[in-house]
Amino acid sequence: MPEEALIQQRSSDPSLTGGCRFVRACLRQPVDRTPVWFLRQAGRYMAEYQAVRRHHSLLQICKNPELAAEVTITAAEKLDVDAAIIFADLLLPLEGMGLVFEFLAGEGPVIHQPVRTAADVEQLRVDRASELGYVAEAIRKVVAHFQDRIGIVGFCGAPFTLASYMIEGGGSRNYIHTKSLMYREPTVWRLLLEKLAVVLEEYAAQQVEAGADVIQIFDSWAGALSPTDYRDFVLPVTKELIRKVQALGVPVIYFGVDTATLLPAMRETGADVIGLDWRVPLDQGWSTLGHAVAVQGNLDPILLFAEPDLLRQRVRQILEQAGGRPGHIFNVGHGIVPSTPVENVQRVVQYVREFNALYVREFSPGDDVRG
Ligand code: CP3
Repeated sequence: MPEEALIQQRSSDPSLTGGCRFVRACLRQPVDRTPVWFLRQAGRYMAEYQAVRRHHSLLQICKNPELAAEVTITAAEKLDVDAAIIFADLLLPLEGMGLVFEFLAGEGPVIHQPVRTAADVEQLRVDRASELGYVAEAIRKVVAHFQDRIGIVGFCGAPFTLASYMIEGGGSRNYIHTKSLMYREPTVWRLLLEKLAVVLEEYAAQQVEAGADVIQIFDSWAGALSPTDYRDFVLPVTKELIRKVQALGVPVIYFGVDTATLLPAMRETGADVIGLDWRVPLDQGWSTLGHAVAVQGNLDPILLFAEPDLLRQRVRQILEQAGGRPGHIFNVGHGIVPSTPVENVQRVVQYVREFNALYVREFSPGDDVRG
């Protein structure tokens, strides 16, 4: 059958809701078509978000379940995606641990008293995760709205990435303070990561209890580490956290940026899905990981500034590399940036659906053989 005819003929299977499609893909079960959603799908590139942001700060939105749910829902509906990530921020758990931070325009987060010494780490509190209940409350509202129509992604930072913000006091290029503590005071380092893991596990549990279908753990800056340092200083506590979150009964997506050389070690965390950035071709990343794990990715978010023809080619290339194998979730390799044209994000959703017939094999309901 000619390509165009095949594309026209196949449509999605009505027996699979978006939520079901997304969770099945996380578990490497066959689906009728590749699920698609985007990191930072609700954000400054979207006029609706900007409108809310004119009257509220980022933290006000995060802490107001009504607003956080609205922002989450609006973005997911506008893009017609298969999953919605709850609107929140990675740094929220730091507040209850005793750190004061703010988001400065153009600079990102600033933590006013960075954690640098053993005494600083000892002072961090791990008993106030319940103060994060507003995130679970927002999830409840999003779940009530979508029911099973799309998947709901809860999230938290990974211990390393959060520790790096705590220690550096914000974003960093060389992670000098973070790595100094890690190399010079391994016991203090371990205590810090373990304290973070205690809070993150409880935070994830609240989100699952509220109805999150999947938890994504952002280790955005793990790519700053060599594989040896990752294994020695980060892998054990991360693996334990992932195991505990999985024990809550949900799949875990573990994501980092610039991780091509870390993939085998990230795989050892036991996460159900590994997020790939665009620097590694999807097929190469997946074979490095082995096909017993699902992958999410990996369009360069800056390709969303390209002409539709090139964008379409690149979407197709990623689907071709995934080869219709169960366990691929289409996404960008890192968050959508401000000023991205929304129409191009919508186009990607349409392209993923269009090319589906070429790469994803025909699906029959009840088909749950792992590929
Ligand atoms: O749809 C979504 O993904 C939105 C929910 C979301 C936000 N932050 C809202 C937000 C998510 C999943 C995050 C995660 C997050 N926060 C990460 C990990 C993701 C990644 O990019 O790897 C990190 C590192 C943070 C910390 C953080 N928050 C930074 C570095 C910044 C500044 C970035 C910038 O572009 O200015 C933020 C602010 C932030 N968090 C914004 C949004 C929509 C933009 C700021 C705003 O609205 O004022």
